[in-house]
Amino acid sequence: MRSVSIIGAGCTKFGEHWEKNFKELIAEAGVKAILDSGLERKDIQAVYGGCMASGRFVGQEHIGALIADQLGLNPIPSTRLEAACASGGVALRNGYIAVASGLYDVVAVGGIEKMTEVSTEDAGFALGGAGDQETELFMGASFPALYALMARAHMSKFGTTEEQLAHVAVKNHSNAVNNPYAQFQNAVTLEQVMKSGYVASPLKLLDCSPISDGAAAVILVSSDYAKKNKLDKKAVEIIASAQASDTLALASRENLYETKAGKIAGKQAYEQANLTPKDIDFAEVHDCFTIAEIMAIEALGFCKQGEGGKFTEQGNTKMDGSIPVNTSGGLKAKGHPVGATGVAQAIEAYQQLNNNAGKRQVKGAETGLTHNIGGSGATAVVHIYRKA
Ligand code: COA
Repeated sequence: MRSVSIIGAGCTKFGEHWEKNFKELIAEAGVKAILDSGLERKDIQAVYGGCMASGRFVGQEHIGALIADQLGLNPIPSTRLEAACASGGVALRNGYIAVASGLYDVVAVGGIEKMTEVSTEDAGFALGGAGDQETELFMGASFPALYALMARAHMSKFGTTEEQLAHVAVKNHSNAVNNPYAQFQNAVTLEQVMKSGYVASPLKLLDCSPISDGAAAVILVSSDYAKKNKLDKKAVEIIASAQASDTLALASRENLYETKAGKIAGKQAYEQANLTPKDIDFAEVHDCFTIAEIMAIEALGFCKQGEGGKFTEQGNTKMDGSIPVNTSGGLKAKGHPVGATGVAQAIEAYQQLNNNAGKRQVKGAETGLTHNIGGSGATAVVHIYRKA
């Protein structure tokens, strides 16, 4: 397998984009990424685009072809990848595989979702398709409800508290203050989180990621191509790419307090990179709900199983903690346009490792990790990066 690097990135602001349509979001992220890479459109050989539910959100399918068309990239192959909220991470992994295998030297990877065109109820129904239809969605279990079940299991097994969950939201909102692309650039206090209304007990409004519009794109090249064409100045190498699956239905799992696929993908990624959790300088993890971040940092070995709540409360995952988590603001505050999220996480890694993250820069960051989850954990994708 060949070494693969990110050499360009582009993102729209995440949030409610009443003024831009689906195609314009794709164009904005794609053009920014191509310009950032220093390449031209003619250099790109294939496109991999993550998108979860555009049919339900905006009535548009055939997204692979649409991306190539919109960016003026015809006739190169352009493929849509769908893995619920991990669609972007899976697109990144497929772009990585295509370059690592030697099939292509240059590919574009993107992610897109425009979720605010429909009511919250309809968005919830579309998102619910990421779980098991028969035993969950059709029985009335929304995604906040599924994660609430996991939170209850974690609280009952390990004594995790609602305050500890709230600390995740406080931290991620405070990081998003310094991210101009974030949906919520406002800090929140512990009291505000605790007093926000229940969506699905124990999860409150401020424990949830929002409904968002946004697109993100990166350009991947073989590291040799980057060197040969003097494009390696900002290159960030992907040193591990791993993916694992689990049951869609929570009812089929051994327990609800851990994400097995996340654990397995993390273990495989560490093995590929020949690293341990201690070697990671920062991580972007899938905090679609605050409990998800706690389960993620446990699955990735940043703390022991069951200690994620305490670890967070003690400040270890803050900007100045031992392992800064979700420096971008995370899904919670940066926003969560589901198909774009996995690619946006890679962009945060690219910016951090280029010392280009402004006020949210992790000093001396050399190695970063991203963790993207689909549904309630049925898909997990983990990537590890270092400055090339
Ligand atoms: N965090 C912080 N503030 C939020 C928010 C969130 N997650 N969601 C909405 N808000 C704010 C809005 O900005 C708005 O503020 P304003 O009154 O100052 O303008 C206010 O709360 C009401 O917003 P609204 O859009 O009416 O909220 P809603 O009740 O329709 O939706 C949720 C709230 C939590 C139900 C919705 O965001 C949701 O379903 N989130 C989960 C998404 C999800 O499941 N993703 C997939 C994960 S696997």
